[in-house]
Amino acid sequence: METTANNESRRDFMKQTAIAGAGLLLTNPADLFAWSTTPPNIKTRGYAAVDTSGKLQPWAFERRPVGDDDVLITIKYASICHSDIHQMKGHWGAQHYPQVPGHEIVGIVAEVGKNVTKFKVGDRAGVGCMVDSNPECESFKAGQEQYCPDTVFTYGYPEKSSPTGISQGGYATNIVVKEHFAVHIPRHISFQEAAPLLCAGITTYSPLMKFDLKKGDRVGVAGIGGLGHMAVKIAVSKGAEVYAFTTSPDKVDDILAFGAKEAIVVDDVKKLYAFGPKLDYMICTIPYAFDLAAYASVVKPFGTFTQVGMPERFEVTMNALGLAVSRVNFNASLIGGIPETQEVINYCADNKVHPKIQIIKAEQINAAWENVVNKKARYRYVIDAATF
Ligand SMILES: NC(=O)c1ccc[n+]([C@@H]2O[C@H](COP(=O)([O-])OP(=O)(O)OC[C@H]3O[C@@H](n4cnc5c(N)ncnc54)[C@H](OP(=O)(O)O)[C@@H]3O)[C@@H](O)[C@H]2O)c1
Ligand SMILES: [Zn+2]
Repeated sequence: METTANNESRRDFMKQTAIAGAGLLLTNPADLFAWSTTPPNIKTRGYAAVDTSGKLQPWAFERRPVGDDDVLITIKYASICHSDIHQMKGHWGAQHYPQVPGHEIVGIVAEVGKNVTKFKVGDRAGVGCMVDSNPECESFKAGQEQYCPDTVFTYGYPEKSSPTGISQGGYATNIVVKEHFAVHIPRHISFQEAAPLLCAGITTYSPLMKFDLKKGDRVGVAGIGGLGHMAVKIAVSKGAEVYAFTTSPDKVDDILAFGAKEAIVVDDVKKLYAFGPKLDYMICTIPYAFDLAAYASVVKPFGTFTQVGMPERFEVTMNALGLAVSRVNFNASLIGGIPETQEVINYCADNKVHPKIQIIKAEQINAAWENVVNKKARYRYVIDAATF
């Protein structure tokens, strides 16, 4: 695998060669050939944020040419994660604009670099939250690329190879990515249903597997949106007894249909204390400030509580006594590695663990984002990339 830095130095070398060649042009026609073989950037259309308003607009931009370790993917569908909204609105810090969100991406490989072995043209491929990293890093070698300090996340990260200077995401017609960061999409799951697995699927699957979930374990899920409904479905399919904590009474029927044993409508945190410390494990996807101690109170002493929701400024407020009396093992988890992303996609395809989705056109993205924030999504919006 070639690093971005290597790519960059090769590009600089090629640029210098080309400039030197242009100087010699009058005397050496062979240099004209060297100039003309510099691959052009790849044209792309997408939807970008230009400020913190949470409103996206159409934008034409360019991707880097396909490098030796890259694949070019023609995007078929990209789905909407609440992280897209948080980041574009600046909830997690100031952003560079224009910025194209989207890290649940599926499509067809259109071109491969000369070192690529994992894919060929025509393969079905997916891209999640990462597009590059440092292969020498221990986390990378362990298949936990998300914990490598050099990892480039799919949008908004400084990326020298990108013509816009930052990585640009999947609300677009195509993407160029290091082959390592693309995964295979099996034929027995639709593109539309595979897309949400690239973030919502892996982010819930990874901590559930880390917990070493066993048949009959009592698992809680808080916040039944894109991530939460996948957590319910995955935990149910692994044989857990699932308890879903929702603030939306009109989701109860769906939650029971997903296989949960019980849906608890949390209109008052007293409901959580009344439920009592019954669960072995809880995964919390709530994306805004909430009462952590109250949600942790439903877990048995020495059980585990994993936070995956990422509120504004990434802040979660702890109450030490509240956590102490629950004596939960608290952790927070970031997506999952590339091998595990392939694993969850295969698992969901094989076991028919499909997200519940709504397909939309590009022009509906802004309305869809409002619905996500207002808890009206049921449960993942998937954008048809043919409409960009
Ligand atoms: N850790 C990671 O690696 C990672 C990866 C992806 C996403 N995330 C984060 O995970 C969070 C969820 O993402 P998502 O795409 O699943 O979002 P989502 O589809 O909007 O689902 C979140 C759900 O949380 C509940 N909720 C929303 N606002 C709430 C509030 N103020 N108080 C209590 N409950 C509330 C709602 O469920 P009910 O209607 O059932 O109450 C909502 O549907 C976001 O913060 C996102 O950035 C983290
Ligand atoms: Zn996401």
